[in-house]
Amino acid sequence: MKRFLMFGVSSILAVIPVLSQAATQPPSPSELWNEVQTLRMNNALMVGSKAYQPGSRTIDAYTIDLANKAENDAIRKAGSIQKVTRYPNGALVVKENFNEQRKLTGITAMLKLDGYDPADRNWVMAAYTPAGKVVGYGKIPACIACHTMVTKQDFVFAPPPDQMLPVSVWKGFFPKQDIAPVYAELLRTHADAIVK
Ligand code: HEC
Repeated sequence: MKRFLMFGVSSILAVIPVLSQAATQPPSPSELWNEVQTLRMNNALMVGSKAYQPGSRTIDAYTIDLANKAENDAIRKAGSIQKVTRYPNGALVVKENFNEQRKLTGITAMLKLDGYDPADRNWVMAAYTPAGKVVGYGKIPACIACHTMVTKQDFVFAPPPDQMLPVSVWKGFFPKQDIAPVYAELLRTHADAIVK
């Protein structure tokens, strides 16, 4: 009897890894939004970033980067954002965008999901309004096109002034958005931090 029971349990256990390998379905946008809210409530800053650090444009003149444990552990282990070459499955990083009046203008997120998008490092990309309305979700070409500039860092940028993009790149993606004056100044004083 006992042997039968054990057989039953072990055959169930054997199925679990198969199921989780196949689980490349992303969470729904609202499920991911809930995870983002948890990080916001816990003030879970990304290692290597600061609250209200400078952002690139007037719509994100200030930013706050948040990260879950999997993301932050990878950064700590590597020593810096620039040294991470692969984030683990489940790593989540969030950017809160604030305007010059420090009003929240939008939230972007990247969730690492093994097998989701192998050609582009398996990130689920998401963009939300401050109220949580979904602006974009999934394999968003524009997000991917720009974040590939740091493929060797597995798509995650270090915040300004450690890494920055030239005005021409921002303008190429967002022709109508103004560059934040502080960012323009940082580009002049930290020319070596510009990602090529
Ligand atoms: C034109 C380039 C560009 C585009 C397009 C872009 N990003 Fe980013 N993103 C950056 C840069 C550069 C940073 C680093 C912070 C900064 O400079 O403000 C960043 C930061 C982030 C972060 C914080 C983690 C990190 O890499 O520092 C997330 C999350 C993020 N972006 C998600 C997105 C999503 C989702 C989209 C699409 C809706 C998107 N990004 C579109 C350039 C871009």
